[in-house]
Amino acid sequence: MQTAMIGGGYVGLVSGACFAEFGTNVAIVETDPDRLAALREGRIPIYEPGLDKLVADNVAAGRLTFGDNIEQAVQGAEAIFIAVGTPTRRGDGHADLRYVYAATEQIAKCMKDYAVVVTKSTVPVGTGRQVSDLIRRVRPDLDFDVASNPEFLREGNAIGDFMRPDRVIIGTDTTKEGGAHRAMEIMRRLYRPLYLIEAPILFTSLETAELAKYAANSFLAMKVTFINEIADLCEKVGADVHDIARGIGLDNRIGRKFLHPGPGFGGSCFPKDTLALVHIAQNAGSPMRLIETTVDINDTRKTRMAHRIVAACGGSVAGLTIGVLGLTFKPETDDMRAASSIPILHHLAGAGATLRAFDPAGMEAAQPLLPEEVVYCHDALDAATGVDALVVLTEWNEFRALSPARLRELMKGDVIVDLRNVWEPKAMRDHGFQYESIGRPL
Ligand code: NAD
Ligand code: UGA
Repeated sequence: MQTAMIGGGYVGLVSGACFAEFGTNVAIVETDPDRLAALREGRIPIYEPGLDKLVADNVAAGRLTFGDNIEQAVQGAEAIFIAVGTPTRRGDGHADLRYVYAATEQIAKCMKDYAVVVTKSTVPVGTGRQVSDLIRRVRPDLDFDVASNPEFLREGNAIGDFMRPDRVIIGTDTTKEGGAHRAMEIMRRLYRPLYLIEAPILFTSLETAELAKYAANSFLAMKVTFINEIADLCEKVGADVHDIARGIGLDNRIGRKFLHPGPGFGGSCFPKDTLALVHIAQNAGSPMRLIETTVDINDTRKTRMAHRIVAACGGSVAGLTIGVLGLTFKPETDDMRAASSIPILHHLAGAGATLRAFDPAGMEAAQPLLPEEVVYCHDALDAATGVDALVVLTEWNEFRALSPARLRELMKGDVIVDLRNVWEPKAMRDHGFQYESIGRPL
């Protein structure tokens, strides 16, 4: 089976490589010349564990190709995926669909035979129908279907999430006269290996699939925000947030995952998708106050975390040197999009601190986004050397393994603000630190 994937970013590259691994031929189309050159030379432009081997194997097997010629890629393709970005639109918070519509128009212009055009990008409700209308306008003669197949992979665990998903959701045009059987049959064939492992595959309407994606991300963002607020309360009343997370998470109706407190959720999806859902709901005349509040709490949390660091340093960071461990929005990625480190480091630099930072994967992507004066260090111990205070912003495993005794020797001061709870409070205090973490008794 032949497919085309428009967009070779996180989602396009991972899902393209995984479909190829399932046995499908996938032509990835990427317009960014640097990204395309990297892919053609066998370099993976994003940090994602296991992706280099998966891509190399499937390129070698002839199932995965990269190019910038959309016309070539769509010829003979039974499914054409759109996996381009849908960032927040400047000024109004809506999802910016210009890349989706531009790709749609390009696809429509060069399609020759029937294909199902599938949005894999996260798109607001109604986009599938707009895509369909646009194709019909450009090519009134064409036989095609549209489908919505939102992607639920997480960065850092993307291949596992794609190959062994909790579920797959496929929306088709349930209002189509005679039904969208052809599209459904193609999608079933594409996902055949997942039927074999009994992954649930849900067929829905276009609108349901589109909204399910926003509902999933917003629910998870709300869950993280909930545990962050419980953590704040724990600090006031002397309770332990991890025991509470375990205590409530063992109730299957709640579930144990996404109950780890931190400096607020970031990344390319939760912030933009919660905001987009707020606008989708407002436009539909059915506002989602829970999500509006989630967005608001998460935005202010980052500033509150910066204030907290200042307070731990005695009320002022002017003239102090602060070591920063972790910059990316979460571990196992080099992605800096909407990372909490960005507002926090700007606040600290603005308040007069000198910053020494280290991240195992994100330092290159961080530089254009962080204050110019940040000193980038070659490892965690280097970032801790001579500092008055040390702050943990991302829970990379290698930070857990650092020796507190060694940190104590290297640091000038004794303040640690651990916003990801990577160390045990008692052990850190025993080593002579003034140690603060989130939602745990002092
Ligand atoms: P990305 O920015 O990493 O990748 C998009 C790619 O599409 C870019 O490389 C861009 O150059 C390319 N592109 C844009 N227009 C093109 C065109 N007309 N032809 C060819 N290439 C084109 O974005 P991403 O993180 O992969 O996200 C894509 C979509 O998937 C978004 O809607 C996002 O919300 C959603 N999503 C992302 C994740 C994730 O973990 N990153 C997970 C699930 C869903
Ligand atoms: C998220 C979803 O988990 C994916 O299912 C979805 O496909 C993806 O968005 C998307 O739509 O793009 P991702 O952004 O890669 O994936 O990252 P998550 O692991 O969900 O983490 C998001 C943010 O929440 C991070 O900043 C992380 O640090 C924070 N988080 C997460 C916590 O603070 N605590 C937790 O317990 C979990």
